[in-house]
Amino acid sequence: MSNNGTPMLDDLEKGPWPSFVTDMKQAAAKKPAVNDLMRQLEASYTEKVGHWKHGGIVGVKGYGGGVIGRYSDSPDRFPGVEHFHTIRVNQPAGWFYNTKSLRALCDVWDKHGSGLTNFHGATGDIILLGTTTDQLQPTFDDLAELGFDLGGSGSAMRTPSCCVGPARCEWACFDSLNVVDTVTRTFQDQLHRPMFPYKFKIKVSGCPNDCVAAIARSDMAIIGTWKGNIAIDQTEVTQCAANGMNIQTEVVDMCPTHCMAWDGSTLKIEDRECNRCMHCINLMPKALRPGNERGASILVGGKAPIVHGAMLGWVVVPFIKLEPPYDNLIELVNKIFEWWDENGKMRERLGELINRQGMGKFLKAVGLKPVPQMIKRPRANPYYFWREGV
Ligand code: HEM
Ligand code: HEM
Ligand code: SF4
Ligand code: SF4
Repeated sequence: MSNNGTPMLDDLEKGPWPSFVTDMKQAAAKKPAVNDLMRQLEASYTEKVGHWKHGGIVGVKGYGGGVIGRYSDSPDRFPGVEHFHTIRVNQPAGWFYNTKSLRALCDVWDKHGSGLTNFHGATGDIILLGTTTDQLQPTFDDLAELGFDLGGSGSAMRTPSCCVGPARCEWACFDSLNVVDTVTRTFQDQLHRPMFPYKFKIKVSGCPNDCVAAIARSDMAIIGTWKGNIAIDQTEVTQCAANGMNIQTEVVDMCPTHCMAWDGSTLKIEDRECNRCMHCINLMPKALRPGNERGASILVGGKAPIVHGAMLGWVVVPFIKLEPPYDNLIELVNKIFEWWDENGKMRERLGELINRQGMGKFLKAVGLKPVPQMIKRPRANPYYFWREGV
């Protein structure tokens, strides 16, 4: 039973899964504002109307972004959430923390905010949910003491994010963490001072498994790949078969480019045809390894719906070596920023601008030669599912 007058929210605590309502009730024990947050949400459910006003300029000294202003449209009914601003905090590359820094972060937020967090937001940032305008600067100051910085918001470069890469994963074709760290430090201005037509996201995956979904979610996706042949250990292949794997149906028949063959004792790959989808390597990690010449592909244009429909990124650089200090990458990012900033309309993402002005103009502006790997079709829209025979 509710003691907060929120029967519909209470209903969301039933069932076997963890409930955000339970979390909010826990937070409300320390922060009465959270009661108003719940009451406002309950009111939205019953009245079928949202009670947040969108936007508003709030921030901290020297920064144009990182704080997302939120105000209740009914402060008389829900005074605790009259201001309830969201703070984005730049996450460490690959989301590695020790418990000490997590506790310190939470202490800062218990002191200055609602105590509610989102680890992590769609952007990758740590999201601190809900504080008042006067607490923004003190929160930022305390975060800075701990070595944390704000993330990006608004029409700026957004906080870059990456997969755990070589820190934990044997498939990483380059150091995704170091790339994100370098890009983040290099583009501090673009991250903290919104200056662009719209948002710009860079996401980095160490291999084609693309664990951060860079292809679908970022204007510029950097995804690990390799040149040359997949290394095959035939003894391990035989072992997989002996362990009960049906190499024909599970691996060979599932290869999207039909470039594999298995005669019961030897596995062959026509590497020229392989599109490095990772399927076979994921299934037989001991038997197969990515080729030795490793680097990344760069894709542009990925984004979620909003102005135009959703788009997947497409390849503009089939292969780039990524080694410190990454001058080649930084130079390309700068050229892309420059062209998009110069030509983009308000709220036009990079992919939409390329669609409007044409790939030719884009390639010329950033100094890339057209090559056959720059394929945009047939998989351009992740929300359209092709059905066989239609
Ligand atoms: C049933 C309740 C809720 C559901 C199902 C829900 C679901 C989601 C999902 C799926 C995302 C995207 C997360 C991601 O991709 O990492 C998201 C983001 C977010 N949610 Fe919720 N949410 C709920 C309640 C709330 C509440 C109560 C608040 C605020 C008080 C909130 C604030 C946010 C914010 C600020 C983000 C964006 C984080 C970012 O900028 O990346 N959500 N939510
Ligand atoms: C009719 C209702 C709403 C519409 C049409 C809407 C639309 C949008 C759009 C288009 C964006 C992307 C803006 C950008 O990234 O530049 C956005 C971002 C966001 N929205 Fe809303 N929104 C609505 C209501 C809300 C509400 C009720 C909340 C919270 C209580 C909310 C929280 C956010 C947050 C935290 C972001 C991220 C802002 C940023 O990245 O700078 N929105 N919304
Ligand atoms: S994207 Fe590849 S390298 Fe990165 S964590 Fe996933 S499997 Fe590993
Ligand atoms: S990586 Fe994918 S395309 Fe390449 S051989 Fe393996 S299954 Fe086929």
